[in-house]
Amino acid sequence: MENFWKKLNKPILALAPMAGYTTSSFRQICKYHGADVVYSELASATALNFEGKKTLKLLQFEKSESPYVVQLFGNDPKYFCNAVKFVSEKIKPDGIDINMGCPAKKVFSNGSGAALMKEVEKVREIIKETLKGTKLPVSIKIRAKVENVTAYKFVKKINDLPISAIMIHGRSLKQGFTGEINYEQIRKVKELVHIPVLANGGINSPKDAKRMLQRTGADGLGIARGSLTKPWLFSQIKEYLEKGEYQEFELEQIKKSAIHHAKMSYKSKGKHGIVEMRKYLLWYFRGFENAKEIRKGLVKVESVGDIEMILGNI
Ligand SMILES: Cc1cc2nc3c(=O)[nH]c(=O)nc-3n(C[C@H](O)[C@H](O)[C@H](O)COP(=O)(O)O)c2cc1C
Repeated sequence: MENFWKKLNKPILALAPMAGYTTSSFRQICKYHGADVVYSELASATALNFEGKKTLKLLQFEKSESPYVVQLFGNDPKYFCNAVKFVSEKIKPDGIDINMGCPAKKVFSNGSGAALMKEVEKVREIIKETLKGTKLPVSIKIRAKVENVTAYKFVKKINDLPISAIMIHGRSLKQGFTGEINYEQIRKVKELVHIPVLANGGINSPKDAKRMLQRTGADGLGIARGSLTKPWLFSQIKEYLEKGEYQEFELEQIKKSAIHHAKMSYKSKGKHGIVEMRKYLLWYFRGFENAKEIRKGLVKVESVGDIEMILGNI
């Protein structure tokens, strides 16, 4: 089985995982706009051992999304081997990622997500069980710090295991989703390991991307919320890194992208895809003049035609 991580050009631009948002159609639109690798929605390793069907549905993807990484969470090593076996056979993604950074109460209080960074022995077992169940490359996503455990301290203790990539959200568990990025922790991990390190957190513009790469020396970037307002951020970053400047997206291009996204969402999920599209449309047109008026229409759309009509009036 090929390790796709080794074949990607650097810097690698990844759509970071976002539960409830990194759906197939959103991954497709980000891929269309230049993302090099995309992550799935969050799936439970435990659930995949018991009620696999629903979770499998959540993880379906289109060939155009590839390379596509499925992210799993859990806290019990014994469920990981079967879960990845199942996902590898039924979904056939390009990689598996293990979530070690989620602060959500539902995940954290159960000993999964960011709580794992405090339990390195358990993490070693989880990684070993995961590797037993699949030949796909296995990556991890961690935080800069969880309580007194830094990313560097943590990775040092698992660095002998054959993982293929690490994404680091450069904020501590305590910081949650806001505040300064700890560039130093990302840089220290980058200097320690010989696999791609993706720096994540606060990248909302091509300039943020360049700063992150310069300060961390990372091999790539993970972009989450920045992609919700601008899925085209990936290609703008590439343009900026290459030429030192980039084109702003014009209103007509934004509308075109939103409609393209809506069509893919409809194709993938029918009417439900349009309902799902409403939340993305709100992100797309955030901060626009008359945003309140536009919003009122967008939260009610029921078809691609409705969307075209409302956007036509902006
Ligand atoms: C709505 C939402 C859902 C998220 N879900 C996940 C998830 O399922 N797995 C994960 O590892 N991180 C998840 N994250 C964290 C992001 O991947 C990322 O680490 C964080 O948002 C910081 O990046 P940003 O500043 O580019 O948004 C989520 C973030 C948001 C905003």
